Amino acid sequence: MIDEMQEPRNLVSIEDLGRDGILEVLRESETFVEVASRRMPKVPALRGKTVATVFFEKSTRTRLSFEMAAKRLSADTLTVDISASSMSKGESLRDTLETIDALGVDAIVMRHHSSGAAVQAARWVKACVINAGDGQHEHPTQALLDAFTLREAIRSARGTDVEDLDGCRVAIVGDIRHSRVARSNVLALSALGARVTLVGPSELLPVSVEGWPIEAATEELDAVLASTDACYVLRIQHERMADAGLSDLREYRRSFGLTVERARGLAPGAWIMHPGPLNRGVEIDSQVADGPNSLIRAQVRNGVPVRMAVLFRLLGRSRDIEEVIGDGRG
Ligand code: NCD
Repeated sequence: MIDEMQEPRNLVSIEDLGRDGILEVLRESETFVEVASRRMPKVPALRGKTVATVFFEKSTRTRLSFEMAAKRLSADTLTVDISASSMSKGESLRDTLETIDALGVDAIVMRHHSSGAAVQAARWVKACVINAGDGQHEHPTQALLDAFTLREAIRSARGTDVEDLDGCRVAIVGDIRHSRVARSNVLALSALGARVTLVGPSELLPVSVEGWPIEAATEELDAVLASTDACYVLRIQHERMADAGLSDLREYRRSFGLTVERARGLAPGAWIMHPGPLNRGVEIDSQVADGPNSLIRAQVRNGVPVRMAVLFRLLGRSRDIEEVIGDGRG
């Protein structure tokens, strides 16, 4: 019998999953990729469940892909528009979340500008909390879809179904210090055996990398390109330029932008990744972002099956995956 208490309740950090949990999510994501290829890409796995997306920051791909994932699992969805909610009348975060919880939703997918907001939310509500980005802390589902996408690329390049990312050399480039995407990716990719190097101006690298499971942190992008299997470019935020001791975006682009010229220094076949949204012509050139080695579109596409796997893991656990996805093949 399944012990309810043993089931995972929230996904706040990649650390909630550990290596085995990550691999399980990736395995189940593959099942949902198969579902997506069906003529009718919808399964009754979460019928009767309700998923609320509560975003306090702007988002396109993350919110839409969570909503699409929930709908493809036959869950009902609620989109909470914060600007139109009572929070704009001064209601506290806690009251807002408790109100949504009291409606009886099963999961709250939340994005918030404060680091730690998702941990706090999980203490207040009965619903499962999925962190869709909290301040500078974590963005676990982004890292899961990135790991899935990278593994898919390795599998197709090698023609063999590798289980993890063992030995894959990944350079994460940009504003590491303030990036929840970088933090979750370091944890997820390294747990799967990837060798991660952080690259950026010293002011945008972590103050200390002690305890970070990485190979190195460096300011020299050109020096790492040739020995990189995947170059993961982060979005640069205009408001961070001053923090980085840079006068403008052009200066950033000159030293850290993945321009067409700089990308020539990459090993042949090295993959390009970016979580979006892209500042074309700043941290990455269009020709690189849209080139043959870019995984950026695949990252977006994989967001849906990976988030289906996460929702299913938290809300549909007592059900057998094979049973609920049925045999709609064909
Ligand atoms: C990221 C985010 O908001 O954390 N985007 C995303 O979710 N795909 C990265 C960013 O905004 O720079």
